[in-house]
Amino acid sequence: MPQISLVSKNFQYPDQVELQAALSRGAWEQWKRVLAEKIPPAAIIEEVKAAKLRGQGGAGFPTGVKWGFVPKDSPKPKYLCVNADEGEPGTFKDRAILENDPHLMLEGVAITCYAVGIHTAFVYMRGEFYQPQRVMEKAIREATEAGLLGKNIQGSGFDLDVIVHMGAGAYICGEETALLNSLEGWKGWPRLKPPFPAVVGAFGCPTVINNVETMAGVPHIMRLGAAEFQKLGTEKDGGTKLFAISGHVAKPGVYEMTMGSSLKELIYDVAGGLPGGRRLKAVIPGGSSAPVLKADEIDVPLEFEAMAAAGTMLGSGAVIVLDETVSIPEVFMVTARFYAHESCGQCTQCREGCTWIYKISKKILAGHGQPSDLDLMLDLADNMNGKTVCPLGAAMALPTIGFLKKFPHEFLALMKS
Ligand SMILES: Cc1cc2nc3c(=O)[nH]c(=O)nc-3n(C[C@H](O)[C@H](O)[C@H](O)COP(=O)(O)O)c2cc1C
Repeated sequence: MPQISLVSKNFQYPDQVELQAALSRGAWEQWKRVLAEKIPPAAIIEEVKAAKLRGQGGAGFPTGVKWGFVPKDSPKPKYLCVNADEGEPGTFKDRAILENDPHLMLEGVAITCYAVGIHTAFVYMRGEFYQPQRVMEKAIREATEAGLLGKNIQGSGFDLDVIVHMGAGAYICGEETALLNSLEGWKGWPRLKPPFPAVVGAFGCPTVINNVETMAGVPHIMRLGAAEFQKLGTEKDGGTKLFAISGHVAKPGVYEMTMGSSLKELIYDVAGGLPGGRRLKAVIPGGSSAPVLKADEIDVPLEFEAMAAAGTMLGSGAVIVLDETVSIPEVFMVTARFYAHESCGQCTQCREGCTWIYKISKKILAGHGQPSDLDLMLDLADNMNGKTVCPLGAAMALPTIGFLKKFPHEFLALMKS
């Protein structure tokens, strides 16, 4: 069974949020070892590269490679921003880490900062995360009092401050450059790239931005070694991934799987299949911006490239299961409503396109659509896809193309003639 407990190993213990309990289960051991053995920072970056850890925030960029882009000789301070915004509809796996094992993520943060030469880390959390904020701030306080964070950590001369920064609940602020603007106190509008944050990031300084789950994988790489960690997954996607599965399954929740496990197994063997003997209609496999898969397309490995080859994305690992009772035009309208609401408005194609698609989808549901509306929405999607400052436009365009091309009959059935 490809289900596994690595990052989620200690989620079952309610006291794992307390430092002493976490220490008794091995928390912070790798961080202490890194400092005691004075492991060279470059060796850690190489280890993370060899482990084939990929970013778990959605894009799947190789983590060690990203760290390697940070200039080593910059006279400016460097920063780490942990992306704890978790705004993609269907996604709730970072919250599981933040609330159940904050010390695992913090240990990953400490090792990352040491490897890249960073002395200040921000945990940028979505505004609604009151409970994760409470848990994380307590964990930072306890770790600082225990000399695992703060000044001259374990007598090593290495300093690290970790600061929780709360957002105001905007989906766009999960996009890394909008996150930076928001952190700096500006409107959460994405920035043009290049320059990339690794070179010009927070406050104009080199900045690493990584997802919560990416950070949580780092201590396990140091514990298992790159080769063991990589082998849990596939040649290009090392280790494991947390999947948040919701919708029409018997056991919705967060499950950890080895990279490359089958989506079908996750739905039927791990999450208990569809309740009430109902048939599967479709699966949105990587959060609401991932193109939909039809029921006969789900025998695909949970791996970044395999999912791309199947015409969709692994994304944030949010699997939304839709049974035969679901109206695809309704799911589409709800999706469009979300993006129309969350488009930041900076790019015309996205601001107008998301709103227009939402209005047309509502009109079709009300029975006032016409067949040419499908082409109009595909045209709007084409105008947004890859033509905006950030990928929010694509996040609306790709599901539009997916729903309209795979289920046109459901839209046409709502039209009078
Ligand atoms: C509109 C939008 C929203 C995003 N929201 C999140 C988010 O909530 N959490 C996250 O980790 N990444 C999010 N991302 C991806 C980030 O821009 C970035 O790729 C990620 O934080 C990098 O970390 P990783 O390499 O560890 O995945 C979002 C991207 C876009 C375009």
